[in-house]
Amino acid sequence: MTESRRADLRDVLARNLTGARDRTLLLTDHDEPELLRQHSPLLSPLVWDLAHIGQQEDLWLLRHGDPRREGLLPAGVEALYDAFTQPRAVRSRLPLLPPVEARSFCREVRGRVLDRLERLGSDDDPFDFAMVVSHEQQHDETMLQALNLRTGPPLLGLGEPLPGGRPGVAGTSVLVPGGPFVLGVDAADEPFSLDNERPAHVVDVPAFRIGRVPVTNAEYAAFVADGGYSDPRWWSARGWTHRQEAGLERPQFWSAHGTRTRFGDVEQLPPDEPVQHVTYFEAEAYAAWVAAVDPAWAGARLPTEAEWEKAAVWDPATGRRRRFPWGSAEPTPALANLGGGALRPAPVGAYPAGASTYGAEQLMGDVWEWTSSPFQPWPGFRPMLYADYSAPFFGGDYRVLRGGSWAVAASILRPSFRNWDHPIRRQVFSGIRLACSIGGPAA
Ligand SMILES: [Fe+2]
Repeated sequence: MTESRRADLRDVLARNLTGARDRTLLLTDHDEPELLRQHSPLLSPLVWDLAHIGQQEDLWLLRHGDPRREGLLPAGVEALYDAFTQPRAVRSRLPLLPPVEARSFCREVRGRVLDRLERLGSDDDPFDFAMVVSHEQQHDETMLQALNLRTGPPLLGLGEPLPGGRPGVAGTSVLVPGGPFVLGVDAADEPFSLDNERPAHVVDVPAFRIGRVPVTNAEYAAFVADGGYSDPRWWSARGWTHRQEAGLERPQFWSAHGTRTRFGDVEQLPPDEPVQHVTYFEAEAYAAWVAAVDPAWAGARLPTEAEWEKAAVWDPATGRRRRFPWGSAEPTPALANLGGGALRPAPVGAYPAGASTYGAEQLMGDVWEWTSSPFQPWPGFRPMLYADYSAPFFGGDYRVLRGGSWAVAASILRPSFRNWDHPIRRQVFSGIRLACSIGGPAA
């Protein structure tokens, strides 16, 4: 790598580290009792996330991932921030660092990391810095999940303005002709891609149709109004059992009266906004119901990961992947709803300029889209330095979600990015995009 390329990389990494930290500090700019509150057994108190972000940065960037090397925290304190040994449900009962100490620890680590970045030499792997940025931004998204579950008057306001939608796009689909495409990426093209996104490999995907946009609140409300939650025909056996045991009657945060609660604010359900906060089981049941009631969507189901990624990035004219659905330009507010400032998805049709070659829109940002694929390694998978990032989760009870949500930072999102979660989770900003094999819906 040339010195000027290395200097550019240093600038990008410094900017991304600073961007992530600004966001973390904004999301944790609350008084001490607020930061110590645990809003759900599924999520940590914010003060845990804050110090854990610093602890992981200390481990990966100041100690090369070797926990036997001495860190800035005493070993007994550092152990409190180990995500594998401290389950989320117990974290508020741990003797955590108070917010003021957690902030000063994070500041100390960051100062040393920026010094190290300044001296980044040919022996250093810039990937480690990108991985730490990704880690911090992912925690910022889980902190937003926690703040959304919080009870009490709104803390974050209502969010930044978004572009308006377009009529006529909800419920429509686009055709993706059959044929091979390149699934996944290599480090040469995407140096900051994580291990589970690699390597790039050719996959043959039969023709299918996919929703032009995600499923809206109005469309999903029709399923609820049609008794979708009381008819086991639409649900898988596991899904129906979970629906009964958890008492699910509608998406999380919806009331029975057409309103929803969003970051503490109660508002009318926006009909054209992508539905959020559904489990994999609800997504699957919705697809089965649509397949039965809408002749234009006969055979409706959730897309596979391969289908989703082909619809997002393949350019049949060049026989190559695009970097983003719309091309090679970095995401901007005119192309996708990312970054977390909006506090909600944009209405469908808001980003025509962000369409993929096949015409699918809003693939990046807005809502994470459930796919039917379990989380598995791509052929030729090799774990990265942080070997526990992906590998322990392969083959577990997870489904993969694609495309990022409004809460994801643009600096860490790629179309190849794979998120995974249990099929019963819905505090995530998760939504639905339908697909069907050919022989399915008309154009
Ligand atoms: Fe973490």
